[in-house]
Amino acid sequence: MSIKNIAKFLSSKLDISEIFSEFSSDLVIVEDRIKASLSSDAKKLTEISTYLLDLGGKRIRPLMCLLSSRMFGMQTPSPEVIKVAAGIELIHMATLLHDDIIDKSPTRRGKPSAYLKFGSDATLLAGDLLFVRAFGLCGALDKYTIANTEEACIAVIEGEEIEGFLSATENYPMSRYMQVIEKKTSALFALSCKIGAHLAGASPQVVEQLHKFGILAGTSFQIVDDILDITADEKTLGKKPGNDLRQCTPTIINLSWMEKCPEEARDFFFNRESGKELDISIAIKSINNAGILEDARIMANDYSTKAKELLESLPNTQQKERDIFNSILEFTLERSH
Ligand code: IPE
Ligand code: IPE
Ligand code: MG
Ligand code: MG
Repeated sequence: MSIKNIAKFLSSKLDISEIFSEFSSDLVIVEDRIKASLSSDAKKLTEISTYLLDLGGKRIRPLMCLLSSRMFGMQTPSPEVIKVAAGIELIHMATLLHDDIIDKSPTRRGKPSAYLKFGSDATLLAGDLLFVRAFGLCGALDKYTIANTEEACIAVIEGEEIEGFLSATENYPMSRYMQVIEKKTSALFALSCKIGAHLAGASPQVVEQLHKFGILAGTSFQIVDDILDITADEKTLGKKPGNDLRQCTPTIINLSWMEKCPEEARDFFFNRESGKELDISIAIKSINNAGILEDARIMANDYSTKAKELLESLPNTQQKERDIFNSILEFTLERSH
């Protein structure tokens, strides 16, 4: 996908496209770095990762990494920041390939998912290759960056494993899923924000604040992702809505439904005939009637507000960069894809 198309993909009423334009020359360099990392002697693996890259995506993690380095005075990203921003997107791409195998997701970024198109085996290996390529980039950096990249990758992998399935767990507390979110999604947001700041020379205390900011922003992002599984239309979302229900995946919505309407939800998750689409629409009606989406929106807003408050407390930062981070948080809440 060309940079111009990504800008279009990102565009929202909150001027995220303006933000993108401001960072476009840096993102082009990141994109070239990513492309240069997709090569493999096994051509199919390059084909799979190129397929996913060309389908687009928001590039929100590299954007946050670049912004975070700029926030601490690095107007032009250093080669190290470019490497980390590209490495983080490669890690994200790897997790998407693996996640679609785990979730049996038929679509990704508006097209058949890689696992559906190329099969699980090759897709699994393509994801492995991307993880290692990411380490080829980040492994050339300082010890702090390497250790934190390792930690974030481990978190994502653990989050995906600990998540499990509702249909296989009698009692699934919300607190468990909040830990899952922190690992599977927020850890990579935190890495993007903290390493940008670290490489720009921010103090360890401030870098730690950026980590916390990333966790809050990532959590808000994942809650909205869970909402979109119910509310979005397939064309805009680029993924098949209702898939989390279909696959009995723990989400904020599905767990709140279990809490608020235990009989209907349990019947759905434990006694449902798999693949019956009628059941999905009945479930969505019940979720809508119980006000679960509104509660989830409040939750996503709360995390976003906490992230904004943290931003305002950061010393030695310019209003301009704080405003851009705020707009990204707004976009995260309002997004439809
Ligand atoms: C999808 O992330 C996976 C989640 C953490 C919910 P994005 O919504 O950032 O995916 P792309 O890169 O824009 O497709
Ligand atoms: C997001 O999990 C986290 C990762 C991809 C590791 P989801 O399962 O919610 O992602 P989507 O909804 O398929 O993008
Ligand atoms: Mg998943
Ligand atoms: Mg999801």
